[in-house]
Amino acid sequence: MKGVILAGGDATRLRPLTLVTNKHLLPVYNKPLIYYGIERLVEAGIDRIMVVTSPRHVENFVGLLGSGQNFISQKDGKQIQIVYGIQNGPSGIADGLYIAKDYIGADNCALYLGDNIIEDDISEHIARFKKGALVFLKEVKDPQRFGVAEVDASGKVLGIEEKPKEPKSNLAVVGLYIYDNSVFKKMVGQPMSERGEYEITYLNNKYIEEGTLRSVHLEKEWFDAGTADSLLEAGNFMEKKARG
Ligand code: G1P
Repeated sequence: MKGVILAGGDATRLRPLTLVTNKHLLPVYNKPLIYYGIERLVEAGIDRIMVVTSPRHVENFVGLLGSGQNFISQKDGKQIQIVYGIQNGPSGIADGLYIAKDYIGADNCALYLGDNIIEDDISEHIARFKKGALVFLKEVKDPQRFGVAEVDASGKVLGIEEKPKEPKSNLAVVGLYIYDNSVFKKMVGQPMSERGEYEITYLNNKYIEEGTLRSVHLEKEWFDAGTADSLLEAGNFMEKKARG
């Protein structure tokens, strides 16, 4: 399985912090935000990763991450390999994934939103994945900010709504998605949403229609560090964790 980390966008909610730099390069305690995503994927055995970012910031990512020399593969003890994809505008998460289409080739992929920090170890889920799609859910107080899953009594996901005004549950869909290769076919004919983006929620709903989407509840902390408050909260959490 290959990894795709999305690290584009203008992050207007974090200005002035993001006027000259990219959100994913900002510090979360003692590491740049994007390190947390890379480390989580590498721990799960993924050692081929495409970082998709904007033309304006790509050279900063190359400077920071290079070809992946600071991360060691679980498989062979050698460095992982990081390559770069360019997303020209803020046209959505599905569009960002599409940039990695040729890189993914015939493989499965783990799509990771670079501003997410996931504390659960996902190795088992990646190791066991074969077909369909796998999403991760977490209970939150403010579901309106996220993709929200509607689930039945058995916990099966019936549908996902993107930033609903009246959420059908308090289960946010976390920014990590495991897809089989059919994800790219599912993008054919995808309409833009009202906010002018190719939404990842559209693709997840396609898997639900097909009956092939599974979900897992995260047990540990999850941060979507896209606001000043959540960035600080994540930093404070990491500082406490480091002290033990
Ligand atoms: C995106 C997704 C949303 C998901 C969230 C997780 O939202 O569209 O479904 O719950 O990431 O971080 P964004 O943060 O791009 O607004």
